[in-house]
Amino acid sequence: METKGRIIVALDVDSLEKAKPLVESLAPYVDCFKVGLELLTAVGAPIVIDFIHTLGGRVFLDGKFDDIPNTVGKASKVVAGFGVKLFNVHASAGKKSIEAAVANRGDSGVLGVTVLTSIDEEECISIFGARPNIKVLKFSRMLFKAGANGIICSPQELQFLGTQPELDGLSKMTPGIRPLWAALNDQKRIMTPAEAIEAGATAVIIGRPITNPPEEIGSPVDAVKKITEEIASVL
Ligand code: C5P
Repeated sequence: METKGRIIVALDVDSLEKAKPLVESLAPYVDCFKVGLELLTAVGAPIVIDFIHTLGGRVFLDGKFDDIPNTVGKASKVVAGFGVKLFNVHASAGKKSIEAAVANRGDSGVLGVTVLTSIDEEECISIFGARPNIKVLKFSRMLFKAGANGIICSPQELQFLGTQPELDGLSKMTPGIRPLWAALNDQKRIMTPAEAIEAGATAVIIGRPITNPPEEIGSPVDAVKKITEEIASVL
């Protein structure tokens, strides 16, 4: 896969005005734009998706579907009809819901959210009855069996998942990425883009280091070019 396909930009803004310069300038350099609950709720999915497509970008619709199979299947059919590159479903919605998403994905890819990295060990045990590593592995196996295209996981889990050959067929997308030159913001357990790719990430999801880079780095395009070089150096 070329380096461009390894970078997903998190478009964490609340209006099309703020999104426009980012999508316009970055579309030639990145795989797709992750549109999350903020922009989806503020503007509406069809409008945002059409806007990004018109500017030459592709979309990862981060709607994190978490519902019964019938509802997930119908929502999946709608987003697939919009031509998004990727969309996601919480693994905790269960195998039948994932299968419903897969059955209705059209040409889009289905990613499963494993355990949110905001959930610590104690909370993971309380919700899912197992530690994060174990639960991420179980969810990943279930997602693979249900036909999902990939998973979203923490960079910390990549190495462990990489030791499970039966999961080789799943793409692994990871947030929590910080180049050495970027501010940590609220991210804690991070990896650099190169480290994450070396640890087995298919693509890295990066927001603020690209959308709001430090002054000495320059523009979002300068930032993405630097990250592209970093990733290329380990491919
Ligand atoms: O700006 P930053 O690079 O921290 O953005 C990371 C993106 O990935 C945000 O959209 C954030 O919500 C998302 N994300 C995350 N950690 C998770 C799941 C999603 O940072 N565990």
